[in-house]
Amino acid sequence: MNELVKDKSIIIITDEHVYEYHAKKFAAWPVIKTAAGEPHKNQATVDHIVQELIKLGANKNTFLIGVGGGVVTDITGYVAAIYMRGVSFGLVPTSILAMVDAAIGGKNGIDVGLYKNMLGTILQPDFIFYDYTFLKTLPVKEWVNGFAEIIKHACIKDALLFSVLERYSLHDFQTDQTLVAELVEKNVAIKSGIVTADEFEKGDRKLLNFGHTIGHAIENLHKLPHGHAVSIGMVAACNLSEKTNGFHFSEASRLVKLLAKYHLPVDIETNHEQVFEVLKMDKKRREDGIDFILLDTIGKAKIERISLDKLQKQFKEIL
Ligand SMILES: NC(=O)c1ccc[n+]([C@@H]2O[C@H](COP(=O)([O-])OP(=O)(O)OC[C@H]3O[C@@H](n4cnc5c(N)ncnc54)[C@H](O)[C@@H]3O)[C@@H](O)[C@H]2O)c1
Ligand SMILES: [Zn+2]
Repeated sequence: MNELVKDKSIIIITDEHVYEYHAKKFAAWPVIKTAAGEPHKNQATVDHIVQELIKLGANKNTFLIGVGGGVVTDITGYVAAIYMRGVSFGLVPTSILAMVDAAIGGKNGIDVGLYKNMLGTILQPDFIFYDYTFLKTLPVKEWVNGFAEIIKHACIKDALLFSVLERYSLHDFQTDQTLVAELVEKNVAIKSGIVTADEFEKGDRKLLNFGHTIGHAIENLHKLPHGHAVSIGMVAACNLSEKTNGFHFSEASRLVKLLAKYHLPVDIETNHEQVFEVLKMDKKRREDGIDFILLDTIGKAKIERISLDKLQKQFKEIL
């Protein structure tokens, strides 16, 4: 780290789980520990971090390094943006989801009550450093969560990646560091390619919402892990693609098979009326419908506005 950060004093921000397993890695620097998990991605944790920064005498010459999953990387970026009107920061993502998704793109922020990412800024870190040895302690359910976003990337941008995922299993990636490194790098290239071309979400960046519109609705309603909700959302979006976009049935069944292979759920017993009500409130909704990300083929996505009427008629068949 000291080679990456010249002439600044480093402070590490991490969560209790990552610290517990990897304390040795942090021995050279002051560490601020936070409580782990989404419920702590909030103002109280920001206040705690700021108090600790003040105690440590942090100033404009301080360099923050967020080491952890997406909660830590989001909150570190946010604190770095607002502490003394901005200090420099870097990220070391330690979960699959943070490596391929949360750490990339410069978006950061915290939740306010039930409202996810209500406060935040867009600010790029000075670096994102990948240390795959962290993954040795990542719980299986967090691997599974991260793979939902990896499969999403393959669906919207990369048919070859999709077939690579078909060839291997989760276990292969968990046990072969070279294989997982290649996979993560591929996904970093996909996400950063999209965000570089569209930093402020005017066009292509929306493709990253594939599976997330219906996904978010059922995530809240059923208290599902994010990856599970996105997985079911991707299947629903595929069904919708089949109905409105000529997406081929055999491709939809390839996706269902792949998700199941990576231990992700592909359907859910739900109350369709209730989900539809949540969808109608979605912030991505426009006057005349909802912008969905649909697939032409595996590896090629597009944005399409679906009217609420049309969606309502087909809703029970797609979810
Ligand atoms: N900024 C963005 O563009 C963006 C994109 C996607 C997601 N996100 C955010 O990311 C967050 C989800 O990220 P996440 O799934 O990494 O959640 P997380 O940070 O809560 O990590 C999941 C769990 O894994 C633990 N963990 C992380 N790395 C570990 C390791 N190496 N060993 C052992 N345990 C480890 C954490 O302590 C936590 O308990 C959400 O808040 C989401 O909003 C942000
Ligand atoms: Zn997601």
